[in-house]
Amino acid sequence: MNSSKKNSNPARLPRAKGLDMATVYTPKECGRKVRRIILNGVNRTIVDEFITIQGMKERFEAEDVPMPSKMVMFGPPGTGKTLTAFYIAHRLELPLVLVRLDTIIHSHLGETGSNVRKVFDYANAAPCVLFLDEFDVLGRMRDSGDEVKEMARVVNTLLQCLDEFHGESIFVAATNLEEELDPAVWRRFDTKMTYSLPTEEDRIQYIGLFVGSEPEAQELSRRMAELLAGCSLADIEQIILKAKRKAIIEDAPLDYRHITGAYAEYNPHRKAVASEVHR
Ligand SMILES: Nc1ncnc2c1ncn2[C@@H]1O[C@H](COP(=O)(O)OP(=O)(O)OP(=O)(O)O)[C@@H](O)[C@H]1O
Ligand SMILES: [Mg+2]
Repeated sequence: MNSSKKNSNPARLPRAKGLDMATVYTPKECGRKVRRIILNGVNRTIVDEFITIQGMKERFEAEDVPMPSKMVMFGPPGTGKTLTAFYIAHRLELPLVLVRLDTIIHSHLGETGSNVRKVFDYANAAPCVLFLDEFDVLGRMRDSGDEVKEMARVVNTLLQCLDEFHGESIFVAATNLEEELDPAVWRRFDTKMTYSLPTEEDRIQYIGLFVGSEPEAQELSRRMAELLAGCSLADIEQIILKAKRKAIIEDAPLDYRHITGAYAEYNPHRKAVASEVHR
């Protein structure tokens, strides 16, 4: 599309051969996941510019300005960080290689550093969007006694891998906890995006994608957006789907009553408190 990173035959890319801890999504699969993405004004600009730049490689080389290739996203759960990684892969027509850092670390303690290296070797060899999710696990593990040395080694490996990152791939990381990331790691990223809970306008826009844009639906969207203040878009999606199921069971059109019923059952704020305690 609008990119020099376009992979002419992404379907042939190995499904992360020799890389058990990664899942690979084709650009087409990524496209299907991001049909309803909402990005706020600043993040939309950052993502659009990032993608535009990927299509201007020669110009950037001529001007001797390095291309951005390492992006970090931070913010609360359910605000679209993972979705954005899929969106970038879709726009660049690259496969997404998704790696959950906590699975690499917890399942292979002692081998973590070499796993991190394997993941980067893979991305240096084949153009892709390499996405390390749950990135904050690096910060969290530094406090836990025996694992301190191991973690220091892993952070060093990661720093090296970030410095040596080359080729056509893009590196994307997501975290809930910005302040727990090692500043040395943080500094390696050329693109940083902050996610927050949706504004009323975002909520109306997102709800409209589910309920439609006729005048009656617009009024319903507005009332729903008011009720769902403080919810993430992930919560809102779950509540709307629950409400739609209720409407289907009743064989009735979706109305505000279904939404209040679904909201009371789903109880998003209790869930938010529980997940904070868990962290
Ligand atoms: N900005 C958004 N635009 C559209 N849908 C969204 C957005 N944010 C969340 N959603 C919905 O919520 C789901 C979960 O979002 P996502 O996985 O991107 O959240 P996250 O920020 O990565 O959360 P976590 O920190 O828990 O990993 C998405 O699949 C989508 O259905
Ligand atoms: Mg996520």
